[in-house]
Amino acid sequence: MRGDAYRLSDTLAGVLDAPPAAIVSSLPLLTKPEATRLSLLRQGFELMGREGRFIQFTYGVKSPIPSYLAAGLRFRTQSLAPIWLNLPPARIFIYCQVDCPRSGEKRSDVVAKLLRESRRFSREIRDELAEARARLVSSDAGKAARAKNGQS
Ligand SMILES: C[S@@+](CC[C@H](N)C(=O)[O-])C[C@H]1O[C@@H](n2cnc3c(N)ncnc32)[C@H](O)[C@@H]1O
Repeated sequence: MRGDAYRLSDTLAGVLDAPPAAIVSSLPLLTKPEATRLSLLRQGFELMGREGRFIQFTYGVKSPIPSYLAAGLRFRTQSLAPIWLNLPPARIFIYCQVDCPRSGEKRSDVVAKLLRESRRFSREIRDELAEARARLVSSDAGKAARAKNGQS
């Protein structure tokens, strides 16, 4: 379907037959005024209800919905570890209503999967960096040994 995501309520009017559990967005929110971002979040929660999660991918380091605004609207923000393998590095922010379950409590499948994937990416990056460092160290050690023995 096509429509303006920032006019979510109108765009999805009559389209859904049940409230969505989550909204996943990669909209370029940072190019929009804060009022428009907040309006999108508000419309999202009107559609999803209190249990919903608004999941936002962004290239920014900070939340596109500043936490002081999110708190004013009774939203809570959870930020996941940066995804360094994405070019440019990306970040995921999850917004939920203040009384939604905290870490360790029951989460929707979508959020649980995102958290798992984010942790897996972080582990992979850490392991790859450790391997690259080990390769550099052994290559430097080899060069030093060859130089000592007068080899090129
Ligand atoms: C960063 S891209 C992400 C594209 C896609 N999700 C992906 O991962 O390949 C942002 C997308 O938001 C769409 N977009 C921007 N403003 C929009 C709006 N007002 N309503 C609906 N889509 C919009 C753009 O067309 C673009 O495809």
